[in-house]
Amino acid sequence: MSTVPKFVIGNWKMQARHEHGLQLARDIAHAMRDTPPPSHLHTIICPPFTQLDGVHQALREVCLPHEQLAMGAQDCYPASSGPFTGDISAPMIRDLGARYVILGHSERRQNHGETDAIIRQKVKAATAAGITPIVCIGEHLAERNEGRAASVLSTQIEGSLTRGFRGILAYEPVWAIGSGITPSQEELQRKLQLIRALLPMRLMTDDIRVPVLYGGSVTSVQAPSIMSIEAVDGVLVGSASLEAQSFLDIIGAAAEATAPQPSP
Ligand code: 13P
Repeated sequence: MSTVPKFVIGNWKMQARHEHGLQLARDIAHAMRDTPPPSHLHTIICPPFTQLDGVHQALREVCLPHEQLAMGAQDCYPASSGPFTGDISAPMIRDLGARYVILGHSERRQNHGETDAIIRQKVKAATAAGITPIVCIGEHLAERNEGRAASVLSTQIEGSLTRGFRGILAYEPVWAIGSGITPSQEELQRKLQLIRALLPMRLMTDDIRVPVLYGGSVTSVQAPSIMSIEAVDGVLVGSASLEAQSFLDIIGAAAEATAPQPSP
């Protein structure tokens, strides 16, 4: 049995209204209770802030172990409290049952001017609050086409991760998000190997195994080939996580692709 956990994470972004979100959480939780995925597969759903409490209650009603189905938020503020109008801190999301938080998503880097330094502050805040950070990195199309992806990824890893980083890293090429385009197996393998080679330099140890996920236009059609890549520890799913059956299909595909091989 594989002991390395694999992850399927749903990032709902700003896309599910209240009732839709609660129903989605209930549908996913009930289906997972009826047909539990293998224990090495960890599923996390990340609703908007306004639904954290309701989704947490909905998950509690179904009583699944949190390793099996947990909840995450989509951002947090670097400070734990203070006069920051409109912001939400890591302890606040922890109070509502979040065990994970997505940080440095390209939509926040782009729309909110988040720099690597800000993201690193958020990583520290999340970790201090007992929340596992899921840090996103990824190059733009022009950077890829100009052959600059490696240096972009290296800068993002160096700038946004803390030295003793204990969390999850998600490689989300900006050009693959919401575009219906995914990198070829060969490109993905190469990029993930590069990221894995860069991590020990940032963490200053190769004793810590940071799970590295892929995100960008993942559906149940691409999930099996993506999950079968050795270096991929899971997927971060956007739009296909907004419909229970399509998300469950991805979980099913991930379970199948990562099932331990019977010993000869
Ligand atoms: P899509 O799956 O909709 O391309 O979004 C990916 C993403 O940004 C997940 O964080």
